[in-house]
Amino acid sequence: MDYLEIEEKVAKMDITLPPPEPEADRQYYFIRKLQLWMEEKKKELGRPLTACITTFGCQMNARDSEKIIGIMEMIGYEMTDSEEADFVLYNTCTVRENANLKVYGRLGQLKKYKKKNPHMVIALCGCMMQEKVVVDKIKQSYRNVDIIFGTHNIFKLAELLSLKLLDRPESKKMIIDIWDGTTEVVEDLPNERKYSFKSGVNIMFGCNNFCSYCIVPYVRGRERSREPEDIIAEIECMVKDGVVEVMLLGQNVNSYGKTLEHPVSFAQLLERVEKIEGLERIRFMTSHPKDLSDELIEVMAKSQKICKQLHLPLQSGSTRLLKDMNRHYTKEDYLFLVEKIRRAIPDIALTTDIIVGYPGETEQDFEETLDVVRKVEYDSAFTFIYSKRTGTPAAAKEDQVPQNVVKERFDRLLELVQDISAKKTQKDVGTIQQILVEEQNQHDANLMTGRTGRNYLVHFPGNKDLIGKLVSVRLVESKGFYYMGERIEE
Ligand code: 5AD
Ligand code: SF4
Repeated sequence: MDYLEIEEKVAKMDITLPPPEPEADRQYYFIRKLQLWMEEKKKELGRPLTACITTFGCQMNARDSEKIIGIMEMIGYEMTDSEEADFVLYNTCTVRENANLKVYGRLGQLKKYKKKNPHMVIALCGCMMQEKVVVDKIKQSYRNVDIIFGTHNIFKLAELLSLKLLDRPESKKMIIDIWDGTTEVVEDLPNERKYSFKSGVNIMFGCNNFCSYCIVPYVRGRERSREPEDIIAEIECMVKDGVVEVMLLGQNVNSYGKTLEHPVSFAQLLERVEKIEGLERIRFMTSHPKDLSDELIEVMAKSQKICKQLHLPLQSGSTRLLKDMNRHYTKEDYLFLVEKIRRAIPDIALTTDIIVGYPGETEQDFEETLDVVRKVEYDSAFTFIYSKRTGTPAAAKEDQVPQNVVKERFDRLLELVQDISAKKTQKDVGTIQQILVEEQNQHDANLMTGRTGRNYLVHFPGNKDLIGKLVSVRLVESKGFYYMGERIEE
Protein backbone atom coordinates (compact mmCIF):
# COMPACT_ATOMS: atom_id res chain seq x y z
CA MET A 1 0.00 0.00 0.00
CA ASP A 2 1.20 3.51 -0.64
CA TYR A 3 1.19 6.38 1.81
CA LEU A 4 -2.19 7.73 0.68
CA GLU A 5 -3.90 4.36 0.97
CA ILE A 6 -2.56 3.92 4.49
CA GLU A 7 -3.60 7.46 5.38
CA GLU A 8 -7.12 6.70 4.20
CA LYS A 9 -7.27 3.54 6.29
CA VAL A 10 -6.04 5.44 9.36
CA ALA A 11 -8.67 8.15 8.87
CA LYS A 12 -11.40 5.50 8.86
CA MET A 13 -10.45 4.05 12.26
CA ASP A 14 -13.18 4.30 14.87
CA ILE A 15 -11.41 5.00 18.14
CA THR A 16 -14.57 4.67 20.22
CA LEU A 17 -14.26 0.92 19.67
CA PRO A 18 -11.52 -1.28 21.16
CA PRO A 19 -8.41 -1.68 18.94
CA PRO A 20 -8.84 -4.20 16.08
CA GLU A 21 -6.96 -7.52 16.08
CA PRO A 22 -4.86 -7.56 12.87
CA GLU A 23 -1.52 -5.97 13.72
CA ALA A 24 -1.37 -3.30 11.00
CA ASP A 25 -4.98 -2.22 11.71
CA ARG A 26 -4.21 -2.10 15.40
CA GLN A 27 -1.39 0.34 14.73
CA TYR A 28 -3.55 2.45 12.37
CA TYR A 29 -5.96 2.72 15.31
CA PHE A 30 -3.30 4.10 17.65
CA ILE A 31 -1.99 6.44 14.96
CA ARG A 32 -5.55 7.78 14.60
CA LYS A 33 -5.87 8.27 18.35
CA LEU A 34 -2.62 10.21 18.42
CA GLN A 35 -3.60 12.29 15.36
CA LEU A 36 -6.68 13.55 17.21
CA TRP A 37 -4.61 14.23 20.32
CA MET A 38 -2.09 16.09 18.16
CA GLU A 39 -4.81 18.36 16.76
CA GLU A 40 -5.71 19.40 20.30
CA LYS A 41 -2.09 19.84 21.30
CA LYS A 42 -1.36 22.05 18.31
CA LYS A 43 -4.22 24.36 19.27
CA GLU A 44 -3.12 24.42 22.89
CA LEU A 45 0.53 25.21 22.13
CA GLY A 46 0.00 27.24 18.99
CA ARG A 47 2.67 25.18 17.19
CA PRO A 48 3.15 21.64 15.87
CA LEU A 49 5.03 19.14 18.05
CA THR A 50 8.49 18.22 16.82
CA ALA A 51 10.45 14.97 16.69
CA CYS A 52 14.17 14.33 16.31
CA ILE A 53 15.24 10.84 15.22
CA THR A 54 18.93 9.89 15.34
CA THR A 55 20.17 6.71 13.73
CA PHE A 56 23.33 4.83 14.66
CA GLY A 57 24.77 1.87 12.77
CA CYS A 58 23.96 0.08 9.58
CA GLN A 59 21.57 0.33 6.64
CA MET A 60 19.05 -1.87 8.46
CA ASN A 61 18.79 0.74 11.17
CA ALA A 62 18.56 3.50 8.59
CA ARG A 63 15.63 1.68 7.01
CA ASP A 64 14.00 1.12 10.44
CA SER A 65 14.31 4.85 11.10
CA GLU A 66 12.43 5.59 7.88
CA LYS A 67 9.60 3.47 9.26
CA ILE A 68 9.75 5.32 12.57
CA ILE A 69 9.68 8.70 10.81
CA GLY A 70 6.78 7.51 8.63
CA ILE A 71 4.71 6.72 11.74
CA MET A 72 5.68 9.97 13.50
CA GLU A 73 4.84 12.11 10.47
CA MET A 74 1.50 10.39 10.01
CA ILE A 75 0.68 11.19 13.63
CA GLY A 76 1.47 14.82 12.82
CA TYR A 77 4.93 15.41 14.27
CA GLU A 78 7.24 17.76 12.42
CA MET A 79 10.77 16.40 11.97
CA THR A 80 13.71 18.46 13.20
CA ASP A 81 17.47 17.97 13.57
CA SER A 82 17.47 19.74 16.91
CA GLU A 83 17.36 17.69 20.09
CA GLU A 84 15.34 20.44 21.73
CA ALA A 85 12.31 18.58 20.37
CA ASP A 86 9.12 17.22 21.90
CA PHE A 87 10.10 13.68 20.99
CA VAL A 88 13.70 12.49 20.78
CA LEU A 89 14.56 8.96 19.71
CA TYR A 90 17.87 7.15 19.33
CA ASN A 91 17.83 4.11 17.09
CA THR A 92 20.89 2.39 18.50
CA CYS A 93 23.62 0.02 17.30
CA THR A 94 25.66 -2.37 19.42
CA VAL A 95 27.94 -4.06 16.89
CA ARG A 96 30.94 -2.34 18.47
CA GLU A 97 31.39 -0.85 21.93
CA ASN A 98 31.98 2.67 20.55
CA ALA A 99 28.43 2.97 19.29
CA ASN A 100 27.10 2.20 22.80
CA LEU A 101 29.31 4.82 24.42
CA LYS A 102 28.04 7.46 22.01
CA VAL A 103 24.44 6.78 23.02
CA TYR A 104 25.19 7.10 26.74
CA GLY A 105 26.99 10.38 26.07
CA ARG A 106 24.09 11.79 24.08
CA LEU A 107 21.54 10.63 26.68
CA GLY A 108 23.47 12.51 29.35
CA GLN A 109 23.28 15.69 27.28
CA LEU A 110 19.51 15.36 26.85
CA LYS A 111 19.00 15.96 30.57
CA LYS A 112 19.29 19.73 30.16
CA TYR A 113 16.71 19.83 27.36
CA LYS A 114 14.25 17.77 29.34
CA LYS A 115 14.58 20.16 32.25
CA LYS A 116 13.54 23.00 29.93
CA ASN A 117 10.70 20.99 28.38
CA PRO A 118 9.39 18.49 30.95
CA HIS A 119 6.87 17.10 28.45
CA MET A 120 9.66 15.99 26.17
CA VAL A 121 9.46 12.25 25.44
CA ILE A 122 12.73 10.35 25.14
CA ALA A 123 12.63 6.97 23.41
CA LEU A 124 15.29 4.36 22.68
CA CYS A 125 15.14 1.45 20.28
CA GLY A 126 17.43 -0.68 18.14
CA CYS A 127 20.03 -3.35 18.78
CA MET A 128 21.45 -2.04 22.07
CA MET A 129 18.02 -2.37 23.66
CA GLN A 130 17.99 -6.11 23.04
CA GLU A 131 20.76 -6.47 25.62
CA LYS A 132 19.55 -6.89 29.17
CA VAL A 133 22.63 -5.23 30.67
CA VAL A 134 21.95 -2.09 28.64
CA VAL A 135 18.31 -1.83 29.69
CA ASP A 136 19.30 -2.40 33.32
CA LYS A 137 21.87 0.38 33.10
CA ILE A 138 19.34 2.79 31.57
CA LYS A 139 16.76 1.93 34.22
CA GLN A 140 19.31 2.78 36.84
CA SER A 141 21.22 5.72 35.48
CA TYR A 142 19.04 7.38 32.84
CA ARG A 143 15.67 7.85 34.50
CA ASN A 144 14.71 10.53 31.99
CA VAL A 145 14.07 7.89 29.30
CA ASP A 146 10.33 7.32 28.73
CA ILE A 147 10.04 4.51 26.20
CA ILE A 148 12.30 1.59 25.32
CA PHE A 149 11.52 -0.91 22.59
CA GLY A 150 13.60 -3.38 20.60
CA THR A 151 14.35 -4.53 17.10
CA HIS A 152 11.36 -6.89 16.81
CA ASN A 153 8.51 -4.49 17.55
CA ILE A 154 9.27 -1.19 15.83
CA PHE A 155 5.81 -1.43 14.31
CA LYS A 156 4.37 -0.86 17.82
CA LEU A 157 5.72 2.68 18.14
CA ALA A 158 2.28 4.37 17.89
CA GLU A 159 0.83 1.99 20.48
CA LEU A 160 3.64 2.64 22.95
CA LEU A 161 3.49 6.36 22.38
CA SER A 162 -0.25 6.32 22.90
CA LEU A 163 0.27 4.48 26.19
CA LYS A 164 2.72 7.14 27.31
CA LEU A 165 0.93 10.27 26.08
CA LEU A 166 -2.74 9.36 26.34
CA ASP A 167 -3.06 6.69 29.02
CA ARG A 168 -0.50 7.77 31.59
CA PRO A 169 0.86 11.21 30.79
CA GLU A 170 1.81 12.00 34.36
CA SER A 171 3.50 8.67 35.14
CA LYS A 172 7.30 8.66 35.46
CA LYS A 173 7.35 4.91 34.86
CA MET A 174 9.51 3.85 31.93
CA ILE A 175 7.60 1.92 29.27
CA ILE A 176 9.76 -1.04 28.31
CA ASP A 177 8.70 -3.44 25.61
CA ILE A 178 11.44 -5.77 24.41
CA TRP A 179 10.77 -9.05 22.64
CA ASP A 180 13.24 -11.93 22.53
CA GLY A 181 12.34 -12.70 18.94
CA THR A 182 9.50 -12.89 16.49
CA THR A 183 8.37 -14.76 13.43
CA GLU A 184 6.06 -11.94 12.48
CA VAL A 185 6.73 -9.47 9.66
CA VAL A 186 4.16 -6.65 9.77
CA GLU A 187 3.48 -5.25 6.31
CA ASP A 188 1.86 -2.00 5.20
CA LEU A 189 2.90 0.49 7.84
CA PRO A 190 3.82 4.01 6.77
CA ASN A 191 7.45 4.92 6.09
CA GLU A 192 9.15 8.06 4.95
CA ARG A 193 12.08 7.66 2.60
CA LYS A 194 15.13 9.80 3.14
CA TYR A 195 15.62 10.11 -0.62
CA SER A 196 12.72 10.29 -3.06
CA PHE A 197 14.62 8.41 -5.78
CA LYS A 198 16.34 5.55 -3.94
CA SER A 199 15.43 3.31 -1.07
CA GLY A 200 16.44 0.37 1.05
CA VAL A 201 14.07 -2.61 1.02
CA ASN A 202 14.19 -5.25 3.73
CA ILE A 203 14.07 -8.69 2.18
CA MET A 204 14.88 -10.56 5.37
CA PHE A 205 15.49 -9.95 9.05
CA GLY A 206 17.85 -11.50 11.58
CA CYS A 207 20.86 -13.76 11.17
CA ASN A 208 21.54 -17.46 11.82
CA ASN A 209 25.28 -17.45 11.33
CA PHE A 210 26.63 -16.79 14.78
CA CYS A 211 30.06 -15.58 13.74
CA SER A 212 31.96 -15.89 17.01
CA TYR A 213 32.61 -12.13 17.46
CA CYS A 214 29.23 -10.85 16.39
CA ILE A 215 26.29 -9.82 18.53
CA VAL A 216 23.82 -9.39 15.66
CA PRO A 217 22.21 -12.87 15.88
CA TYR A 218 21.50 -12.23 19.57
CA VAL A 219 19.92 -8.80 19.06
CA ARG A 220 18.23 -9.26 15.68
CA GLY A 221 17.01 -12.80 16.22
CA ARG A 222 16.64 -15.72 13.83
CA GLU A 223 16.60 -15.33 10.11
CA ARG A 224 13.20 -14.75 8.50
CA SER A 225 12.50 -13.81 4.91
CA ARG A 226 9.68 -11.69 3.60
CA GLU A 227 7.41 -13.22 0.98
CA PRO A 228 8.67 -12.36 -2.53
CA GLU A 229 5.20 -11.03 -3.47
CA ASP A 230 5.34 -8.52 -0.60
CA ILE A 231 8.83 -7.38 -1.61
CA ILE A 232 7.87 -6.95 -5.27
CA ALA A 233 4.67 -5.09 -4.33
CA GLU A 234 6.63 -2.73 -2.08
CA ILE A 235 9.19 -1.99 -4.79
CA GLU A 236 6.49 -1.49 -7.44
CA CYS A 237 4.83 0.99 -5.15
CA MET A 238 8.14 2.81 -4.62
CA VAL A 239 8.83 2.95 -8.34
CA LYS A 240 5.41 4.49 -8.96
CA ASP A 241 6.44 7.06 -6.40
CA GLY A 242 9.69 7.96 -8.21
CA VAL A 243 12.26 5.46 -6.90
CA VAL A 244 14.80 4.34 -9.51
CA GLU A 245 17.34 2.52 -7.31
CA VAL A 246 16.74 -0.04 -4.57
CA MET A 247 19.11 -1.61 -2.09
CA LEU A 248 17.86 -5.04 -1.00
CA LEU A 249 18.77 -5.45 2.65
CA GLY A 250 19.54 -8.48 4.78
CA GLN A 251 22.34 -9.65 7.09
CA ASN A 252 22.98 -12.50 4.69
CA VAL A 253 21.00 -12.00 1.50
CA ASN A 254 22.51 -15.11 -0.05
CA SER A 255 20.41 -17.29 2.20
CA TYR A 256 17.22 -15.41 1.37
CA GLY A 257 14.08 -17.47 0.97
CA LYS A 258 15.30 -20.74 2.46
CA THR A 259 12.78 -20.64 5.31
CA LEU A 260 9.75 -19.65 3.23
CA GLU A 261 6.89 -22.10 2.82
CA HIS A 262 7.65 -22.08 -0.91
CA PRO A 263 11.42 -21.54 -0.96
CA VAL A 264 12.80 -18.99 -3.42
CA SER A 265 16.51 -18.35 -3.94
CA PHE A 266 18.03 -14.89 -3.75
CA ALA A 267 18.98 -15.12 -7.42
CA GLN A 268 15.36 -15.90 -8.32
CA LEU A 269 14.18 -12.94 -6.27
CA LEU A 270 16.64 -10.70 -8.13
CA GLU A 271 15.31 -11.91 -11.46
CA ARG A 272 11.81 -10.92 -10.39
CA VAL A 273 12.93 -7.51 -9.13
CA GLU A 274 14.77 -6.95 -12.42
CA LYS A 275 11.47 -7.25 -14.30
CA ILE A 276 9.93 -4.27 -12.51
CA GLU A 277 9.43 -1.62 -15.15
CA GLY A 278 10.79 1.80 -14.32
CA LEU A 279 13.31 0.46 -11.82
CA GLU A 280 16.80 1.29 -13.08
CA ARG A 281 19.29 0.04 -10.52
CA ILE A 282 19.44 -2.80 -8.01
CA ARG A 283 21.98 -3.12 -5.22
CA PHE A 284 22.05 -5.49 -2.26
CA MET A 285 23.92 -6.18 0.93
CA THR A 286 25.30 -8.11 2.74
CA SER A 287 26.60 -11.24 1.05
CA HIS A 288 28.16 -14.00 3.11
CA PRO A 289 30.87 -15.68 1.03
CA LYS A 290 29.86 -19.15 2.23
CA ASP A 291 26.41 -18.84 0.64
CA LEU A 292 27.20 -17.01 -2.58
CA SER A 293 25.88 -19.26 -5.34
CA ASP A 294 26.93 -19.74 -8.96
CA GLU A 295 23.31 -18.98 -9.82
CA LEU A 296 23.71 -15.51 -8.27
CA ILE A 297 26.90 -14.82 -10.21
CA GLU A 298 25.15 -15.85 -13.41
CA VAL A 299 22.14 -13.61 -12.72
CA MET A 300 24.41 -10.68 -11.89
CA ALA A 301 26.51 -11.17 -14.99
CA LYS A 302 23.58 -11.04 -17.38
CA SER A 303 21.55 -8.39 -15.56
CA GLN A 304 21.04 -4.92 -17.00
CA LYS A 305 19.99 -3.45 -13.66
CA ILE A 306 22.03 -5.09 -10.92
CA CYS A 307 24.93 -2.75 -10.20
CA LYS A 308 28.42 -4.09 -10.76
CA GLN A 309 29.24 -3.87 -7.12
CA LEU A 310 29.52 -6.54 -4.45
CA HIS A 311 30.14 -6.22 -0.74
CA LEU A 312 31.81 -9.45 0.35
CA PRO A 313 32.99 -9.37 3.97
CA LEU A 314 36.34 -11.12 4.43
CA GLN A 315 36.79 -10.50 8.19
CA SER A 316 40.19 -12.19 8.18
CA GLY A 317 42.56 -13.73 5.65
CA SER A 318 43.77 -16.36 8.09
CA THR A 319 42.11 -19.75 7.63
CA ARG A 320 42.90 -20.56 11.26
CA LEU A 321 41.05 -17.46 12.49
CA LEU A 322 38.22 -17.86 9.98
CA LYS A 323 37.58 -21.29 11.46
CA ASP A 324 37.56 -19.86 14.95
CA MET A 325 35.24 -17.08 13.77
CA ASN A 326 32.78 -19.72 12.49
CA ARG A 327 32.84 -18.27 8.99
CA HIS A 328 32.78 -21.60 7.09
CA TYR A 329 35.33 -20.70 4.40
CA THR A 330 39.11 -20.75 4.09
CA LYS A 331 41.42 -18.12 2.67
CA GLU A 332 41.65 -20.21 -0.50
CA ASP A 333 37.86 -20.62 -0.77
CA TYR A 334 37.50 -16.85 -0.58
CA LEU A 335 40.15 -16.16 -3.19
CA PHE A 336 38.68 -18.80 -5.47
CA LEU A 337 35.24 -17.21 -5.13
CA VAL A 338 36.61 -13.78 -6.00
CA GLU A 339 38.32 -15.21 -9.05
CA LYS A 340 35.07 -16.86 -10.17
CA ILE A 341 33.14 -13.60 -9.73
CA ARG A 342 35.75 -11.57 -11.61
CA ARG A 343 35.84 -14.06 -14.44
CA ALA A 344 32.06 -13.70 -14.88
CA ILE A 345 31.88 -9.95 -14.20
CA PRO A 346 35.31 -8.45 -14.96
CA ASP A 347 34.44 -4.85 -14.10
CA ILE A 348 32.82 -5.60 -10.74
CA ALA A 349 33.71 -3.34 -7.80
CA LEU A 350 34.47 -5.38 -4.70
CA THR A 351 34.25 -4.04 -1.16
CA THR A 352 34.69 -5.79 2.14
CA ASP A 353 34.71 -5.71 5.95
CA ILE A 354 37.85 -6.66 7.87
CA ILE A 355 38.36 -7.08 11.60
CA VAL A 356 41.80 -6.43 13.08
CA GLY A 357 42.83 -7.78 16.46
CA TYR A 358 40.50 -10.76 16.77
CA PRO A 359 41.52 -12.73 19.90
CA GLY A 360 44.62 -14.81 19.23
CA GLU A 361 45.51 -12.94 16.00
CA THR A 362 49.23 -13.38 15.42
CA GLU A 363 51.48 -11.39 13.10
CA GLN A 364 51.31 -14.38 10.75
CA ASP A 365 47.48 -14.29 10.74
CA PHE A 366 47.52 -10.58 10.08
CA GLU A 367 49.96 -11.04 7.19
CA GLU A 368 47.45 -13.47 5.66
CA THR A 369 44.82 -10.71 5.78
CA LEU A 370 47.19 -8.27 4.08
CA ASP A 371 47.92 -10.93 1.50
CA VAL A 372 44.22 -11.30 0.60
CA VAL A 373 43.85 -7.51 0.43
CA ARG A 374 46.80 -7.32 -1.97
CA LYS A 375 45.49 -10.18 -4.11
CA VAL A 376 41.85 -9.06 -4.30
CA GLU A 377 42.60 -5.35 -4.59
CA TYR A 378 39.35 -4.14 -3.06
CA ASP A 379 37.80 -0.96 -4.38
CA SER A 380 37.27 -0.05 -0.76
CA ALA A 381 37.23 -1.79 2.61
CA PHE A 382 35.64 -1.07 5.97
CA THR A 383 38.25 -1.86 8.57
CA PHE A 384 37.29 -2.43 12.18
CA ILE A 385 39.20 -2.89 15.39
CA TYR A 386 37.87 -5.99 17.13
CA SER A 387 35.42 -5.01 19.84
CA LYS A 388 34.63 -7.44 22.63
CA ARG A 389 30.85 -8.05 22.78
CA THR A 390 29.64 -9.64 26.00
CA GLY A 391 27.72 -12.84 25.37
CA THR A 392 29.53 -13.78 22.15
CA PRO A 393 31.91 -16.79 22.16
CA ALA A 394 34.91 -14.63 21.21
CA ALA A 395 34.46 -12.41 24.27
CA ALA A 396 35.25 -15.38 26.51
CA LYS A 397 38.61 -15.98 24.83
CA GLU A 398 41.62 -15.21 26.93
CA ASP A 399 44.16 -14.31 24.27
CA GLN A 400 42.90 -10.79 23.53
CA VAL A 401 45.48 -8.87 21.47
CA PRO A 402 47.14 -5.87 23.21
CA GLN A 403 45.75 -2.51 22.11
CA ASN A 404 49.08 -1.11 20.85
CA VAL A 405 49.60 -4.15 18.61
CA VAL A 406 46.06 -3.86 17.24
CA LYS A 407 46.48 -0.16 16.55
CA GLU A 408 49.75 -0.69 14.70
CA ARG A 409 48.21 -3.45 12.53
CA PHE A 410 45.10 -1.37 11.92
CA ASP A 411 47.19 1.52 10.60
CA ARG A 412 49.16 -0.77 8.31
CA LEU A 413 45.97 -2.30 6.92
CA LEU A 414 44.35 1.08 6.39
CA GLU A 415 47.35 2.37 4.50
CA LEU A 416 47.35 -0.64 2.19
CA VAL A 417 43.60 -0.42 1.61
CA GLN A 418 43.84 3.29 0.79
CA ASP A 419 46.81 2.84 -1.55
CA ILE A 420 44.93 0.21 -3.50
CA SER A 421 41.72 2.29 -3.64
CA ALA A 422 43.63 5.28 -4.96
CA LYS A 423 45.30 3.15 -7.61
CA LYS A 424 41.98 1.64 -8.65
CA THR A 425 40.14 4.94 -8.98
CA GLN A 426 42.95 6.25 -11.18
CA LYS A 427 42.19 3.53 -13.71
CA ASP A 428 38.74 4.82 -14.63
CA VAL A 429 39.73 8.45 -15.20
CA GLY A 430 38.62 9.52 -18.69
CA THR A 431 35.76 7.02 -18.92
CA ILE A 432 32.10 8.02 -19.25
CA GLN A 433 29.79 6.66 -16.56
CA GLN A 434 26.10 6.78 -15.79
CA ILE A 435 25.56 8.31 -12.38
CA LEU A 436 22.49 8.71 -10.25
CA VAL A 437 22.51 12.30 -8.99
CA GLU A 438 21.85 12.33 -5.26
CA GLU A 439 22.37 15.78 -3.82
CA GLN A 440 23.92 19.18 -3.99
CA ASN A 441 27.54 19.15 -2.83
CA GLN A 442 27.71 20.21 0.80
CA HIS A 443 30.79 22.40 0.34
CA ASP A 444 30.17 23.89 -3.09
CA ALA A 445 26.63 24.70 -4.22
CA ASN A 446 27.71 24.71 -7.88
CA LEU A 447 28.54 21.02 -7.70
CA MET A 448 26.18 18.07 -7.67
CA THR A 449 27.07 14.68 -6.21
CA GLY A 450 26.09 11.30 -7.59
CA ARG A 451 27.11 7.66 -7.63
CA THR A 452 28.28 5.39 -10.41
CA GLY A 453 26.88 1.88 -10.71
CA ARG A 454 30.07 0.67 -9.06
CA ASN A 455 29.18 2.96 -6.16
CA TYR A 456 31.88 5.59 -6.57
CA LEU A 457 31.05 9.17 -5.66
CA VAL A 458 31.35 11.77 -8.41
CA HIS A 459 31.14 15.55 -8.02
CA PHE A 460 30.37 17.57 -11.13
CA PRO A 461 29.10 21.05 -12.05
CA GLY A 462 25.31 20.96 -12.35
CA ASN A 463 22.09 22.13 -10.82
CA LYS A 464 19.50 20.79 -8.42
CA ASP A 465 17.03 19.80 -11.15
CA LEU A 466 19.24 16.80 -11.81
CA ILE A 467 18.64 15.22 -8.39
CA GLY A 468 17.16 11.75 -8.79
CA LYS A 469 18.13 11.53 -12.48
CA LEU A 470 20.59 9.23 -14.21
CA VAL A 471 23.06 11.28 -16.23
CA SER A 472 26.27 10.59 -18.18
CA VAL A 473 29.40 12.05 -16.69
CA ARG A 474 33.04 11.90 -17.80
CA LEU A 475 35.38 11.17 -14.90
CA VAL A 476 37.94 13.96 -15.17
CA GLU A 477 40.07 13.51 -12.09
CA SER A 478 40.44 10.90 -9.34
CA LYS A 479 40.72 12.12 -5.76
CA GLY A 480 41.37 8.76 -4.14
CA PHE A 481 37.89 7.96 -2.87
CA TYR A 482 35.88 10.00 -5.34
CA TYR A 483 36.01 11.66 -8.74
CA MET A 484 35.54 15.10 -10.17
CA GLY A 485 33.53 14.84 -13.38
CA GLU A 486 31.83 16.76 -16.14
CA ARG A 487 28.40 16.15 -17.55
CA ILE A 488 28.07 14.83 -21.09
CA GLU A 489 24.81 16.06 -22.63
CA GLU A 490 22.92 13.16 -24.24
N1 5AD B 1 34.20 -6.12 16.51
C1 5AD B 1 34.60 -5.48 15.39
N2 5AD B 1 33.91 -5.52 14.25
C2 5AD B 1 32.78 -6.26 14.22
N3 5AD B 1 31.90 -6.49 13.23
C3 5AD B 1 30.92 -7.27 13.72
N4 5AD B 1 31.15 -7.56 15.01
C4 5AD B 1 32.31 -6.94 15.35
C5 5AD B 1 33.07 -6.87 16.53
N5 5AD B 1 32.71 -7.50 17.64
C6 5AD B 1 32.07 -5.97 11.88
C7 5AD B 1 32.15 -7.10 10.86
C8 5AD B 1 30.85 -7.00 10.13
C9 5AD B 1 30.58 -5.52 10.22
C10 5AD B 1 29.17 -5.11 9.96
O1 5AD B 1 30.95 -5.18 11.53
O2 5AD B 1 33.24 -6.84 10.01
O3 5AD B 1 30.93 -7.45 8.80
FE1 SF4 C 1 27.23 -10.97 12.33
FE2 SF4 C 1 28.22 -13.02 10.91
FE3 SF4 C 1 25.53 -12.58 10.96
FE4 SF4 C 1 27.16 -10.87 9.66
S1 SF4 C 1 26.83 -13.06 9.14
S2 SF4 C 1 25.49 -10.34 11.07
S3 SF4 C 1 29.02 -10.90 10.93
S4 SF4 C 1 26.83 -13.18 12.69
